[in-house]
Amino acid sequence: MKRGEKVIILIIVLVVAVAMAKNIWVQHTTKEVDQGIPYYSTATPELSRTAMDIYRENGCKKCHSLWTVKNMQETVPAPILDGIGSLRTEEWLYSYLSAESPQEILPTRLLPEWKMPSYAKLSEQDRKALAGYLASLKVKDWYLEDTRKAEYQKLTGKPYKHE
Ligand code: HEC
Repeated sequence: MKRGEKVIILIIVLVVAVAMAKNIWVQHTTKEVDQGIPYYSTATPELSRTAMDIYRENGCKKCHSLWTVKNMQETVPAPILDGIGSLRTEEWLYSYLSAESPQEILPTRLLPEWKMPSYAKLSEQDRKALAGYLASLKVKDWYLEDTRKAEYQKLTGKPYKHE
C-alpha cells in the first residue's frame, strides 16, 4: 500500500470514529430532555385490530382522542383514552361499557348529547374486546400523574389537587 493510500484510509477511519462518538454523545445527553411518547399498548396485534375496528364503527373517535396529538376541533371534553389502562381495570371498563347508564358509574357534568353513551347493546364479544384493549393502554410511570390530572379535569372541569 502506498503512503498516500494509508493516509486516506486513516482519515476515513477517523471521520467514522468521530461520527460514531458524536452519535453516542447526542443520544446520551438528550435522554433526560426527550423521554419520548409515554403511551404504549400491551395488546396483541390481533386484539388491537379487532378493537380499533369496533372503536371506529361506534364513533368513539367523535368524542375521545386516542393515539393522536390533541384533537384541535375537540368539541366534547371527554377524557383522553391514552393510558386509560393504567387508571382503570379491565373489569371496570367492561362494566362501564356494559352499563345501561354509564353515568351511574361515572357521573357526567356535560349536556346529555355529549355524555358517554351506553354501549350495552354491543355484543358481549365486542365489549370484551374493547375492554381488553382499553385495559392494555398503559402510560409510563413518569407520565402517570399528568394523565391522572388530565382525566380528573376532563371529568370534573375542576383543577386537580394532589391528595
Ligand atoms: C358522545 C360522545 C362520546 C362517545 C361517542 C363515546 N364517549 Fe366515552 N365518554 C364520553 C364522556 C363525555 C365521558 C366522561 C363521562 C361522561 O361525561 O359521561 C366518557 C367516558 C369514557 C370512559 C371512561 C374514562 C375514564 O376517565 O375513566 C371510557 C373508557 C370511554 N368513555 C370509552 C369510550 C368508548 C370505547 C367509546 C366507543 C365505543 C366511547 N367512549 C364513545 C363521551 C363519549
